[in-house]
Amino acid sequence: VSAPCVIPVACSSGSYSVVVGSGLLPRLASFAAHALGSLPRRVLLVADDGLPEVTVDSARDALTEAGCACAIARVRADERHKSLAAAEQLLLAACGHHLDRADLIVALGGGLTGDLAGFAGSMYRRGVNVIQCPTTLLAMVDASVGGKTGVNLDTPQGLLKNMAGAFHQPRLVLADVGTLFSLPARQFRSGLGECLKHGLLAADFGDPGLWGATVGLVNRVIAHNPEALVELVARNVRVKGMVVGDDERELKENAGRALLNLGHTFGHAIETIDGVLPDWALSRHGPAEATTSTGLLHGEAVAIGLHAAAVCSVASGLAPQSLITSVLQGIVLSGLPGRAHHLPGEDEILARMRQDKKVIGGVPRLVLPVSGGRCVVRSDVPEGAIRAALRAIRAEET
Ligand SMILES: NC(=O)c1ccc[n+]([C@@H]2O[C@H](COP(=O)([O-])OP(=O)(O)OC[C@H]3O[C@@H](n4cnc5c(N)ncnc54)[C@H](O)[C@@H]3O)[C@@H](O)[C@H]2O)c1
Repeated sequence: VSAPCVIPVACSSGSYSVVVGSGLLPRLASFAAHALGSLPRRVLLVADDGLPEVTVDSARDALTEAGCACAIARVRADERHKSLAAAEQLLLAACGHHLDRADLIVALGGGLTGDLAGFAGSMYRRGVNVIQCPTTLLAMVDASVGGKTGVNLDTPQGLLKNMAGAFHQPRLVLADVGTLFSLPARQFRSGLGECLKHGLLAADFGDPGLWGATVGLVNRVIAHNPEALVELVARNVRVKGMVVGDDERELKENAGRALLNLGHTFGHAIETIDGVLPDWALSRHGPAEATTSTGLLHGEAVAIGLHAAAVCSVASGLAPQSLITSVLQGIVLSGLPGRAHHLPGEDEILARMRQDKKVIGGVPRLVLPVSGGRCVVRSDVPEGAIRAALRAIRAEET
């Protein structure tokens, strides 16, 4: 297996490396010592409870064999448990293990575990060192990089996602693609949704060929080829790292982190609606998990959102028709849906888009792909173009 890739991320509040490779977890202690300047005495290892024991053991053994006192706290990776109460449990575990400011919290798991452990890390003693060890494709290419941490709030209006949180950059991200072997196939493909998104905006962030490379790599990536995985993850991390380095706190209105919302305004509007299913869910030829499908995973909603954004862009005269064909090709090759069954009416989806927490003054601000791996942010998209997009993502009922 090839040498790990090291991608520097430079933010105003701190710079760090993202190391992407295979077989990295057993070397966690030496990577941590290098990133922190010395080996921490105590570590709270926050582990996703969906992980196989062998993955958790690998991280724990690496730390204890190097001489760290390591305590494990388990996280239930369920959005209802991504809560202030769960963050408090982690703070109590950190207290119980006598972590001091020079010590370390390691987040080992998907994006949910990373957000929760990172948030606890931002609060404990007003901020301790955090190392992110993402174990889902989505967390590797997206959630672990950029320092956004947080929890959901259960309100009378429903569960509001990521409503409380903090920016707290990790000291290191260690992405061991070997941990992905146990990830359910549908969760794995969901992470490809964010890769496709990055491919459509990467030209301004140093990688104009990312879309083509993603389409070229996707079959080997789905087959868990380590070299293909390392290349895909590393290139996505480089793009995400450049975007967040340029706009750490999401202050730019029409550039920077706002571009990462590509596909998300449409995606968020349909992601949490009960009964909405990916287009392949009702097909006898769909993936094996189709029969157990409940709702949409985040990356699936993003893929449908990317299709919608492409249609919207073409209907607004910003891109040629061929963009839609190309976006759909990437989605299909990734085993992701481009359309959904059981969507509510256009007016309801439009209303939901206007309520998106990133919308200012009720006017949907959409990120639209043009061509050549570039996107633009527009607040003046004609409603007709949005409606055309909503019609395009509706799967035929059979
Ligand atoms: N901070 C950010 O910038 C950012 C960006 C995107 C998403 N997020 C957050 O990330 C979360 C979604 O992350 P996710 O898609 O990684 O999902 P997740 O963390 O909910 O994990 C999905 C499922 O996979 C399991 N799992 C994780 N790793 C595994 C492995 N290696 N083997 C077997 N099972 C494994 C988990 O137990 C869980 O059941 C959301 O809460 C979202 O808000 C944060």
